[in-house]
Amino acid sequence: MKVITVKNQLEGAKIAFDLLKEAMEGGSKTLGLATGSTPVEFYNQVVQSDLDFSEMISINLDEYVGLDGSDDQSYRYFMEQHLFNEKPFKENFLPDGKATDLLAEVKHYDSIIDSHPIDFQILGIGANGHIGFNEPGTSFEVTTHVVDLAESTIQANARFFEDESQVPRQAISMGIASIMKSKEIVLMAYGEAKAEAVKGMIEGEITESLPASVLQKHDNVIVIADEAAAKLL
Ligand code: GLP
Repeated sequence: MKVITVKNQLEGAKIAFDLLKEAMEGGSKTLGLATGSTPVEFYNQVVQSDLDFSEMISINLDEYVGLDGSDDQSYRYFMEQHLFNEKPFKENFLPDGKATDLLAEVKHYDSIIDSHPIDFQILGIGANGHIGFNEPGTSFEVTTHVVDLAESTIQANARFFEDESQVPRQAISMGIASIMKSKEIVLMAYGEAKAEAVKGMIEGEITESLPASVLQKHDNVIVIADEAAAKLL
């Protein structure tokens, strides 16, 4: 893993943007995208750029179960607000949180990922080391799956909702095995709350108790961390 320490999210976003630009110049066609506060500035950089996405495909990591794409807490809505409305892609894939048959949706999402191998994957990291919504204890072998969110994740994400009771308890997430197939992975981490997870991911043992530690087994991962998130390294 290559680690780049930056002063703040803006500096990190500019570096991630340059990496994306380079990947697109090198022929990358399919982007794996993440939500959360971490990639927001990165998406701003993309929106302000002259990069053209009309021939690009995006595949997002996850979506809350029970939320429709028009719900302002859904990840589809987030992506539209922060990126897709400004930068039209050829196609944008996210799991359907309103699917009546969740298992069928899981299979369908796996087939989407199989037919569009991810060239460039953006990741954030949860304070408990989750990537996507792959919570501690998730098998490294798993592909798309329905997840019961960890209590700590529900609490962490409550800040985006009116109150904690409104945070969905389940999500559909791309699995760790699928994330690991991406050709290049750029993981951003900002703030002191991520410091323990970042240390474990980079210097700890590779363990399903800290999902992001699996990235030590990937040969093309760049971690962009601010000083607070990198302070235990
Ligand atoms: C969320 C998302 C992850 C994200 C992480 C960190 O629950 N499912 O994809 O990386 O938690 O969120 P944030 O960037 O807001 O700290």
